[in-house]
Amino acid sequence: MRLFAIDERAARCGHHQHGVNASMYIVMVASECAPVAVSGGLGDVVFGLSRELEVRGHAVEIILPKYDCLRYDQVWGLTCNSRDLRVPWYGGAINCSVWFGFVHGRKCFFIEPHSRDNFFNRGTFYGCPDDAMRFAFFSKAALEFMLKSNKRPEVIHCHDWHTGLLPVLLFEMYKFGGMPNQRVCYTVHNFRHQGTAGPEVLSATGLGRPGYFLHADRLADPSNPGRVNFLKSGIVYANFVTTVSDRYAWEVRHTLEGHGLGHVLYVHRSKFGGIRNGVDYDVWNPEVDLLIPHRYGIRNIQTKYLDKEALRNRLWLRQGLKPIIAYVGRLDFQKGAHLVRHTLFYSLANGAQFVCLGASPDPALNREFWGLKHRFNDHPDCHLELRFDEALAHMIYAGADMLVVPSNFEPCGLVQMIALKYGTVPIVRAVGGLADSVFDRDNSERPFEQRNGYVFHQPDVPGLESALRRALGLWYTFPEEFRKLMLNDMRCDYSWTAPGQHYLNVYEYIRHK
Ligand code: GLC
Repeated sequence: MRLFAIDERAARCGHHQHGVNASMYIVMVASECAPVAVSGGLGDVVFGLSRELEVRGHAVEIILPKYDCLRYDQVWGLTCNSRDLRVPWYGGAINCSVWFGFVHGRKCFFIEPHSRDNFFNRGTFYGCPDDAMRFAFFSKAALEFMLKSNKRPEVIHCHDWHTGLLPVLLFEMYKFGGMPNQRVCYTVHNFRHQGTAGPEVLSATGLGRPGYFLHADRLADPSNPGRVNFLKSGIVYANFVTTVSDRYAWEVRHTLEGHGLGHVLYVHRSKFGGIRNGVDYDVWNPEVDLLIPHRYGIRNIQTKYLDKEALRNRLWLRQGLKPIIAYVGRLDFQKGAHLVRHTLFYSLANGAQFVCLGASPDPALNREFWGLKHRFNDHPDCHLELRFDEALAHMIYAGADMLVVPSNFEPCGLVQMIALKYGTVPIVRAVGGLADSVFDRDNSERPFEQRNGYVFHQPDVPGLESALRRALGLWYTFPEEFRKLMLNDMRCDYSWTAPGQHYLNVYEYIRHK
């Protein structure tokens, strides 16, 4: 909502909508970028937004850590850009190499520190006991690199807790050392992960002054004031803070979803708003998707049934007159794994087939789903694939009739927007970005053409079943109506076009502040 205010303000000072913003130079700093370093939606957003900005004529560069586990096969022309970037750290400095390469057309710089800390040679992106120090170093190194290589972007766009200290370092140090005009846009993809470190991070980064920084108005963690909270630091110091949907922006301020940062967001409310993520329709589009056996669009939607047949053949499911309900994604608390499990049983008991694609980071849930897999392995109406497989994901979006997304919380969520593009009807819990992108066919204030799925409210079995029952009922009893719903889905535009413009409005706004 706030962003309309920004649109208006931008319009008043002569900056107009769509593509006519003067060309800007933006540097993204993040811990992930698809497809070289991805663990979740963050990577897709960093890539997709950067691409959209470049298509509109802006100059974008992305700074990433040089992890040993990068997908090096996805980087073109990797070359060493500089070998002697000295990044001050504690009393001394860590020498870094900076590499440059193209990732599907995006310009990426990779920072490789040479020290015994071995910050990015851990065989994993996250999950190390010193994660906070690893990413504090990365934030410092990113700024030092810009300073020394004379990069002076108008906007530095930081993402998630990993880069929360960057605006602090910029406005408390680098601003006085050669970067006086840079502005920071900070996007929070998940308030559950905030990143904290003891006061040693202040000495390491050169910020020092624990008495000043470890204050409730600055970096102090609300529940542990002796520690630095990275996410909070980013919120306090950035020029503008966004999160990935309007509904989530409201939830983090007014419910427990803020995980202790509701007050900080209240204080900084005039520079906080939601911008829903987009989907990269170059990758996720049934009209051009080379990973599905039969391409289709609104005009030949019946071809989707050939993809359904192919999906069944691939997964050893029986053919016949039944809808396929799918789940694609991680199996954990956030995603409502217990309701995914229930969808399996409900589908089998109510004339549907069930397909699940995704792995679980949680050992107990992982065991549970492997148990289910063994139990239903030979069932002709059920298939569980407990790993991530991008190509199979495409086949599922194309071949399934419905996609269930029963999340406990969901800042934005990408799978429901992808499903819509493939005419696969989403069945979602009304939370975060799901509530902003899926509108119930039966109970919505929107006109029929804008209704595109089924929505339930309580994260429990009766809630889920109320939506599944209605979806299956329509599919069996009113197939023509179900097809109209599929067409509504495919007409939705969740591309990067609108969100790209919203980010540009934010950039323009902070740049002239
Ligand atoms: C996080 C959120 C997810 C969001 C993604 C990209 O992974 O959990 O909801 O879509 O970030 O912003």
